[in-house]
Amino acid sequence: MKQKSKKIFITGGAGYVGSVLIPKLLDKGHQVTSYDLMIFGQTLQKHKKLNIIRGDIRDFNLLNKSLEGHDTVIHLACISNDPSFELDPELGKKINLDSFAPLVESSIKNNIKKFIYASSSSVYGIKKMKNVTEEMPLEPLTDYSRFKADCEKILSKYTSDNFCTVVLRPSTVHGYSPRQRLDLVVNILTNLAFHKREISVFGGEQLRPNIHINDMVRAYELFVDLDVSKINGKIYNVGAENKTVNEIALEVKKIIGSDVTIKKVHSDDNRSYHTSSNKILNELNFKTQYDVSQGIRDLLEAFINKKLINTFDNDNFFNVKKMMSLHLK
Ligand SMILES: NC(=O)c1ccc[n+]([C@@H]2O[C@H](COP(=O)([O-])OP(=O)(O)OC[C@H]3O[C@@H](n4cnc5c(N)ncnc54)[C@H](O)[C@@H]3O)[C@@H](O)[C@H]2O)c1
Repeated sequence: MKQKSKKIFITGGAGYVGSVLIPKLLDKGHQVTSYDLMIFGQTLQKHKKLNIIRGDIRDFNLLNKSLEGHDTVIHLACISNDPSFELDPELGKKINLDSFAPLVESSIKNNIKKFIYASSSSVYGIKKMKNVTEEMPLEPLTDYSRFKADCEKILSKYTSDNFCTVVLRPSTVHGYSPRQRLDLVVNILTNLAFHKREISVFGGEQLRPNIHINDMVRAYELFVDLDVSKINGKIYNVGAENKTVNEIALEVKKIIGSDVTIKKVHSDDNRSYHTSSNKILNELNFKTQYDVSQGIRDLLEAFINKKLINTFDNDNFFNVKKMMSLHLK
């Protein structure tokens, strides 16, 4: 069935996930606005149905004005990993927590019908049990994760029949994007293996949930399309495979080359968790299509074809290095 085209407002649209998501939404005939501070540059291609705004979610006036005329919000903008956050916790709090309620209120004022929030699977903290489901208690370990959990709670207070809210808790994403991140586990190991022929694995037994960027994007596309009655007020884990870092390293070696050495380094960071994505499968029939090996192969292809160069020196690939060089206030 052909879906009605939507007017979608995406915060953080120029980021790693947004840069793959937006072309897909445009291909489907949706009208899209990307509202992004463009910390990592502008990698979105021009398109007649794409409006690109360089804006800060802390700028409530511009945000409010820019939201006008849309029906769907996908909120991706944030300082999006622990080390970048810890560089300037005050800045991180302003962007990741303090701007959230004003964004939601502004969305309601502007008659937005559906608000999709990118939380994180890191809200669960360390869990011994396997298959952590959405009902399990949240035990976030860092401010980044704590504020994700806080925003989920804030959002739930605004949920109504006129304002559909849905929370996604993505696993760690891997694979190629025009705005590449090389600070995520599969991507880090693949970059090291290809360019240095040596991978250092800290600990290694930690379990981590993973998802290919194309599957992540397919999930957002699905939530844009779904009828609000099916998803209003709900929370979904979105992941494909749970793998130990050792298993990821072996997969990387298998694909990149048998000459790659894997160096084990002792680590006290044994944070480990293992999520279940059965709810999104059973309720919404969302099946992932790609595995970790696909993300590794995509990056291999990008390295060979020089789509990604200077992969250790270009700050744009590493959120924390970029934030350090920017001195953003
Ligand atoms: N990538 C992952 O593995 C992963 C896993 C779980 C959850 N998530 C969540 O998904 C979302 C997208 O992740 P990503 O990997 O694309 O992150 P990213 O860092 O690549 O993108 C975030 C974007 O937000 C923008 N931004 C930051 N502060 C802003 C501000 N004040 N105003 C406007 N724009 C601002 C940045 O310029 C950037 O383009 C994030 O909310 C992240 O927490 C990502």
